[in-house]
Amino acid sequence: MSETLAIDGGVPVRDTEASPWPTWPDNTEREWEEEIVPILKEVYLGQTEGLPAPVGHRFGQAFAAYCDAAYGVMMPSGTTSIAAGLSAALDLDGMVDGGEVIIPNYTFIATASAPLSVRCSLALVDIDPVSFTMSPEATEAAITDQTVAILPVHLGGHPADMDALNEIASKHNLKVIEDCAQAHGAEHKGRKVGSLGHVGAFSFQSSKNLTSGEGGCLLTNDRDLRDRAWAFRDVGRRPGGERWEYPRLGWNYRTSEYLAGILLKRLPKLETQIDLRNKNAAYLSKGLDEIGGLEPPRWHPWVTQHGYHLYMMRYNSEAFGGKTRDEFIAALQAEGIPCTPGYQRPLTDEGGLKTVMDRHPHLIRRLPCPQVEAICASSIWFLQNMLLGDREDMDNILTAVAKIKRAFAA
Ligand SMILES: Cc1ncc(COP(=O)(O)O)c(C=O)c1O
Repeated sequence: MSETLAIDGGVPVRDTEASPWPTWPDNTEREWEEEIVPILKEVYLGQTEGLPAPVGHRFGQAFAAYCDAAYGVMMPSGTTSIAAGLSAALDLDGMVDGGEVIIPNYTFIATASAPLSVRCSLALVDIDPVSFTMSPEATEAAITDQTVAILPVHLGGHPADMDALNEIASKHNLKVIEDCAQAHGAEHKGRKVGSLGHVGAFSFQSSKNLTSGEGGCLLTNDRDLRDRAWAFRDVGRRPGGERWEYPRLGWNYRTSEYLAGILLKRLPKLETQIDLRNKNAAYLSKGLDEIGGLEPPRWHPWVTQHGYHLYMMRYNSEAFGGKTRDEFIAALQAEGIPCTPGYQRPLTDEGGLKTVMDRHPHLIRRLPCPQVEAICASSIWFLQNMLLGDREDMDNILTAVAKIKRAFAA
């Protein structure tokens, strides 16, 4: 193999046309025939494409059981799961200001937009440098008499420090909403995320580790909270209630039975996929540690299973002859290894939040975020589908990184 980098005209480590990376979702003809068609047919011929949503409820309960939670309510998205979960946890009706919610300043925009959509204001805080999840110290320091909830994100699949965050929440009488959009099946001390706070919110959007193209689910162990979330999604109705009886004000966030059917068939495959991602990630991390310069994801001791929605690394330009992260990413991509810098700025620097801050400064508080700034400048991510590959795929990654390191450091 040529040592000239592919970006300089050399032969790439991987020819992605001849050997494409595993795609997502990993649909097959066999699954379509044997699993998906029968469940779609059941919905279609059963004439229950919407209410009373028996398949959606079956999936909600199956997903809750998988995560060891008492109740699961299917939703149209992760965003609406957070909004409904927050409203239900705080018993908000959306008519008045809901109070302030603390979120990490390094996450997807929906972690911020969902609370704003139910009239909560935000405080955005720094992250822990190891897991890139909400820092408990920064969270506690941000609490004021306006604070009503904290919203940790299990970013990339690494569970946040739930013991510390739950302790802070109970000390200050706050609700805890877990954003689990990137952490299906991740475990904190042997317990799946999603049932560790008052409510957990999941996304089944097309990139997620369990998907139906679009979709979401909220989980809780609290029956009253479940009933309020139910009302939020189903025009104020209560579970098992009359069709034209609306004890609360609510909206229509109901979901299609077809999507629930697909999720029901995919859920049993989740653990096997998680195992494979974890095995490949462990191999990759060991190899990257040996090469040096690209710091692999580190686990805190409370992690008993990583969700690996993202494989998040930190780039050290000194180890690569002072070349910038962008130069490294371009070189790695040219070698046939897809990668991305990930979130490149704190959420408070994104147009969506900046506009809100400009127009309504009282709605957004940005706390000091040195760790967020550092990781935004140095992160490189592989996406979860790559971790569904085989040993040779992982070796391709390691070979390409080592090749670039030799060339850059020469
Ligand atoms: C951390 C996080 N929270 C929330 C969401 C929102 O999920 P959805 O796109 O299903 O609304 C996402 C989805 O990308 C996410 O990554």
